[in-house]
Amino acid sequence: MFSHLQAAPTDPILGLMAAYTQDTRPFKIDLGVGVYKDEAGNTPILACVKEAEARRGRNETTKTYIGMAGDPGFNAQIDQLSLGGARALVDQRVATAHTPGGTGALRVAADLIKRCRPEATVWMSDPTWGNHPAVFKAAGLAVHEYPYYDPATQSLRADAMFDAVAQVPAGDVVLLHACCHNPSGVDLAPEHWQRVAEMAQRQGFVPLVDMAYQGFSSDLDSDAYGVRLLADALPELIYTTSCSKNFGLYRERIGAVSVIAATAEQTTVAKSHLLSTIRNNYSMPPAHGALIVAEILDNAALKAQWLGELAAMRDRINSYRSLMVSRLRDAGVERDFGFIERQRGMFSFLGIAPEQIQRLREEFAIYMVGSSRANIAGLNQRNMDHFVSAMATVLRD
Ligand code: LMR
Repeated sequence: MFSHLQAAPTDPILGLMAAYTQDTRPFKIDLGVGVYKDEAGNTPILACVKEAEARRGRNETTKTYIGMAGDPGFNAQIDQLSLGGARALVDQRVATAHTPGGTGALRVAADLIKRCRPEATVWMSDPTWGNHPAVFKAAGLAVHEYPYYDPATQSLRADAMFDAVAQVPAGDVVLLHACCHNPSGVDLAPEHWQRVAEMAQRQGFVPLVDMAYQGFSSDLDSDAYGVRLLADALPELIYTTSCSKNFGLYRERIGAVSVIAATAEQTTVAKSHLLSTIRNNYSMPPAHGALIVAEILDNAALKAQWLGELAAMRDRINSYRSLMVSRLRDAGVERDFGFIERQRGMFSFLGIAPEQIQRLREEFAIYMVGSSRANIAGLNQRNMDHFVSAMATVLRD
């Protein structure tokens, strides 16, 4: 069974995380994996999560199976968070199942697409999150790219993107990032979402929106703008959500997959396939993370506390975007990094060469993904000087 195998390649993001952990240099900086870090460089448990966990410990009465769709209370709350007052919810055209993380949600979506339309191709942005192509290919689907990020202007290649999307045939799937595009930090503007909606309507492809960072760009509602617009405009939509980042529940693996079909009856049928896909895969999701999130969102005081903690994470990242730009400028770095301030979410491409990335890691213990994707949340007042002088050095030499 195993004797003929070669070792699988290390995951570019999780492998980097392991390498950073093993690095013993005290001045090391982790700009790699997409986890939020506070001013002290820690990824703390949110206070609202601590409280919700304590309540859950006191009030939980059973550990019996939760069912294939997971926790109904969580699912209803996630529907509200993602869709707000979207018509599809009122019309009972939304079926949601909670899943083991956002990646679990994507894999369930992929398996469902394969089941419904095995010949479908999934179109994804160039670049996209490193694991996106692998998840859809693992489900047996074909994957194609559409142009998205222009390294020369550090912005969206809108014309090229829409030229490519114009070629997507009926029945194919177009994967979009709701906000905080991973890895570029460049998001679609409202008029772009409108164009996607019109093209999907005209051409008959189905958008799949990955909303892994709701609340990390501007606020919960603005960050869900695209999902809500598509939900209002289209007969069919798939979207996935994650509570890893906005609730800081990374290791609890809690996310959700939602499908919208043309009618309530079609949604019931689609849901039966969604659940059967889940049953064939992992049977049902773990409960813990969902019950924490439901506890928070069901309780006005805990929800207000969460919104405050979420805003603090978002504001810290955005303020470090500005600080990084001004500190590099003050250090005499000639290259203009002003684009970092215009981008949103945890990530931006620094746009530096592979040798410079390698040098930052080997000489200065600064870790970022090989594409130059940097997690801005890894910066703080204590490591900023080291980061700025290392950048100035590798850019100068
Ligand atoms: C990232 O992009 O770094 C995160 O989403 C973590 C992961 O699983 O890749």
